[in-house]
Amino acid sequence: MAGQIIQLLLLALVAAAWGAPSKTPQARKDLLNVCMNAKHHKPKPGPEEELYGQCSPWRKNSCCSVNTSLEAHKDISYLYRFNWDHCGKMEPSCKRHFIQDTCLYECSPNLGPWIQEVNQSWRKERILNVPLCKEDCETWWNDCRTSYTCKTNWHKGWNWTSGYNQCPVKAACHRFDFYFPTPADLCNEIWSHSFKVSNYGRGSGRCIQMWFDSNQGNPNEEVARFYAAETKNDVPPPQGIGSFLLDLTQMLQLWLHS
Ligand SMILES: *[C@@H]1O[C@H](CO)[C@@H](O)[C@H](O)[C@H]1NC(C)=O
Ligand SMILES: *[C@@H]1O[C@H](CO)[C@@H](O)[C@H](O)[C@H]1NC(C)=O
Ligand SMILES: *[C@@H]1O[C@H](CO)[C@@H](O)[C@H](O)[C@H]1NC(C)=O
Repeated sequence: MAGQIIQLLLLALVAAAWGAPSKTPQARKDLLNVCMNAKHHKPKPGPEEELYGQCSPWRKNSCCSVNTSLEAHKDISYLYRFNWDHCGKMEPSCKRHFIQDTCLYECSPNLGPWIQEVNQSWRKERILNVPLCKEDCETWWNDCRTSYTCKTNWHKGWNWTSGYNQCPVKAACHRFDFYFPTPADLCNEIWSHSFKVSNYGRGSGRCIQMWFDSNQGNPNEEVARFYAAETKNDVPPPQGIGSFLLDLTQMLQLWLHS
């Protein structure tokens, strides 16, 4: 009797060990090196040697075309007809962050773990809660504090009658820090939670960098691999192991009653 129970315990251990490989971090390949299905993205990432200006860090592997990288630097560009200067001229030191944000959004092949399907006329997929490195958010906010805007969520509520966004009559222009009291208010709210500012910092491998030196490679590749592996771990273990364990419990009960 005792021998049988020990055998059973050993079996249970084997079963537990068998289940273990599903817990080792192994990235879901479909979340890595992908482009979202949106307005201007290429179907698949690839080299773009001529990417322009602030989008050039993505030259080795990119979801944006050269044309998109050029347009990302323009006011009221053909990309979205978006007017950064809706409350007077945006400071260039502020605008460079919006250009960088556009480059990241359009060019990065490392946002797969945060791509979500959406039912919007202009795109089939969006990004949600991308963990932006805290320094990238803080410098964005600091450099924009003294520029002016009239809204907290820049995705919704504009007056588009003139072909580009203007402040609706009821929305008054104020300094950025009126609409965005903290860095997190800016980074999280401006694009309806596309970003969720991270507690991790640049170089940690745990947050997405909007700015990086491509001579050192693209640090966001590692970050995507890390979060793709986490996503995988949320998946319950395969059915087979669960039912095997159930069988084992039933066997144990039978033996104990015999
Ligand atoms: C990019 O392509 C669009 C659409 O074909 C065009 O209207 C625009 O002028 C192009 N921009 C550049 C900089 O070539
Ligand atoms: C998506 O939106 C369209 C039009 O707004 C609507 O007809 C359709 O039912 C929506 N689909 C889903 C899955 O919500
Ligand atoms: C929208 O803008 C147009 C022209 O720029 C203006 O005539 C109209 O009153 C505005 N409407 C609202 C709701 O702000």
